[in-house]
Amino acid sequence: MAGQISKNFIQELLSRIDIVDVINSRVPLTPAGREYKACCPFHNEKTPSFYVSPVKQFYHCFGCGESGTVIQFLMNYGNYQFLDAIEELASIAGLEVPKGYVQSHQQEGYTQLLELMEKVNAEFQRQLYKNPESAAAREYLKERGITFEAAQEFGLGFAPNEWSFVKNNYGKTKNDLNMLERAGLIVVKKDSVYDRFRGRLMFPIEDRRGRVIAFGGRVISEGEPKYLNSPETMLFKKSNELFGFKKALQAIKTEEKVLVVEGYTDVVVLAQYGVKNVVATLGTAVTSSHVKQLLRTIHNVVFCFDGDEAGVRAAWRAVESTLPVMEDGHLVSFVFLPEGEDPDSMVRREGGEAYRERMSNGEPIAEFIFRTLLERSDISRTDGRARFATEFGKVISGLRPGMLRQMMLSDLATRTGLSESAIKSVLETPSSEHSASRSKPVASKDFSLTGQFISLLIQHPQFVKYVMELKGIEKLRDSNIRLLVAVLKTVQNNPELNTASLIEKFRGTDYFAQIKLFAISRDDFSESELEEKFEGIVMKLQERIIKQENKLKISQSDYTFDDEELQDFLQRLREQDLLKKNVQEGRKIH
Ligand code: GTP
Ligand code: MN
Repeated sequence: MAGQISKNFIQELLSRIDIVDVINSRVPLTPAGREYKACCPFHNEKTPSFYVSPVKQFYHCFGCGESGTVIQFLMNYGNYQFLDAIEELASIAGLEVPKGYVQSHQQEGYTQLLELMEKVNAEFQRQLYKNPESAAAREYLKERGITFEAAQEFGLGFAPNEWSFVKNNYGKTKNDLNMLERAGLIVVKKDSVYDRFRGRLMFPIEDRRGRVIAFGGRVISEGEPKYLNSPETMLFKKSNELFGFKKALQAIKTEEKVLVVEGYTDVVVLAQYGVKNVVATLGTAVTSSHVKQLLRTIHNVVFCFDGDEAGVRAAWRAVESTLPVMEDGHLVSFVFLPEGEDPDSMVRREGGEAYRERMSNGEPIAEFIFRTLLERSDISRTDGRARFATEFGKVISGLRPGMLRQMMLSDLATRTGLSESAIKSVLETPSSEHSASRSKPVASKDFSLTGQFISLLIQHPQFVKYVMELKGIEKLRDSNIRLLVAVLKTVQNNPELNTASLIEKFRGTDYFAQIKLFAISRDDFSESELEEKFEGIVMKLQERIIKQENKLKISQSDYTFDDEELQDFLQRLREQDLLKKNVQEGRKIH
């Protein structure tokens, strides 16, 4: 494996990473002219002689002579192996390390694309202030109360309301047109080529080094769609990028906290009110890649959502993206704004200081999880309790082992009045003692689609032959998907396994408890019914994958909480009827 990573990839990686960010998050730097300095981490000194150059993307210590690129830095400072350093950097940049040597033509022109974006961005800005036709756009900014300074700071611009403004100005040759298309600036159809952004207020989207990689265009006043974003390009992977990250970095460091909001204008307006440690997602759900980048920069992340149902849903997604990457010492909290407010309106109403204060009083992630699960389950009912516990089990199994997981367990113990060891044994051996007291077996039809699939696969692994290749399944948005992919892979690679040996194969993994849960359900299907079941589910999943790949706008209906009603799971809790008490406690948490 070693040495097999393509030079192109390393180059792309280095072009996406800022050595200043990487070093600064480990060794705090202070500006020194065009460079940054610090006391050298490689030898003992009292006055700084360690310099980092953003232009050269290189560090050098005049004291001990240590020097190199960001890769060298990670290897020397963090004791990384070469490949580990590459992996680390790739994950900061949100790139996949290619397996083996990949000579990619695709990567050619990366720098030219960046240059093109920069040029077009400058032109859009010029248009906003110079073009008489953009008067409406300027008027709109004024009406929204966005100051000239804020508009300038965020490089807002205007795309003239023409079909060929960008095309004519930057697409003189065939090659130019090709670049415009690759930059996502023009749309190329069979028999027409035209500008993507027309008559829109333009928000440049920058990468972590402050280079323009995409645009978000807002209609002036009313119209559809309200925001039009650049498509994914070589430069731009939506789920990795955060609006305003580079501009916010300094404030994030000084405030030791980052605020995550949903809208571009929220970021701009908050900055206007002096709240500058803010980033926004790009009209998508929060991803693990986002959270990883944020937590790597600072250990305190505050998600700010609207107080409505959509906000709570979005927050739960953020929870799901956060848990797998959260580690001990990380603080993640949630703030819900009053109904009808967004950060923009909120900060206007109460001012920057009050807003900042509000952000300091968020609900810690553990609290939010408990409260949501309690609210979502009617725990005066058996199935409600089961649901609460199942969901909780999922949450716990999504956590890395460590203090945090321990904390969640202790928390549950406090809330339920059960001993931790009792809870652990419930979570770990759900199937051990319930058969005697079983009231009604859970049937797989009670599960969500992915739940059904997992359950059927575990119970009838030999039917995996009816499962064709489900390409892209791992990208499905569904809280069961990691488990499903793991089970599917295992069954496909080991067609000889029966249910028991399959379960055993997962012993010691994070999936073990869940797998056993899914194995509990009971069905009485005939061979041919099973065949049909498998094929039906595969078809439906295929459909979902295609739908999602077509990037249907994320709508509420797109998101379903998995609703496995594993009645048996909390048999013991039910018997002790201890959760009842927590209805009240749970409600008090608000
Ligand atoms: P304003 O109406 O300008 O205040 O917008 P906002 O920033 O408050 O946006 P809103 O809360 O409506 O949406 C939050 C974010 O979702 C926006 O910043 C966009 O990134 C994204 N978004 C909103 N509407 C659309 C849309 O129609 N299409 C796409 N692709 N994204 C959208
Ligand atoms: Mn808004």
